[in-house]
Amino acid sequence: MDKYRVTLLPGNQTFTTAPGDIILDAAIAQGIQVAYSCRSGTCRTCIFKVVEGDVVMEDMESCLISPQEIDNGLRLLCMSRLKSDAVFEKLSRRRKDTPV
Ligand code: FES
Repeated sequence: MDKYRVTLLPGNQTFTTAPGDIILDAAIAQGIQVAYSCRSGTCRTCIFKVVEGDVVMEDMESCLISPQEIDNGLRLLCMSRLKSDAVFEKLSRRRKDTPV
């Protein structure tokens, strides 16, 4: 089965996911250091900005992420799957451009 390559910035951590895998689950299974807590879309600890790639979030109604944040390229890794290779950037809490 083909796999997708994931790169997490900063730090350039890389891992792979199989089509249909939840991204956070794949990262944890491969020993990647990613901050997370609830694994159900409600704590926002695993929020990243998509730099490139086709990333689909599921069950958005139950997640604490707004349609505007989705439009701005933000995704929760615990609720997302890939349809291509992807690059994500972890947002700094101090960045002014972080959507609320
Ligand atoms: S781990 Fe809580 S929103 Fe993803």
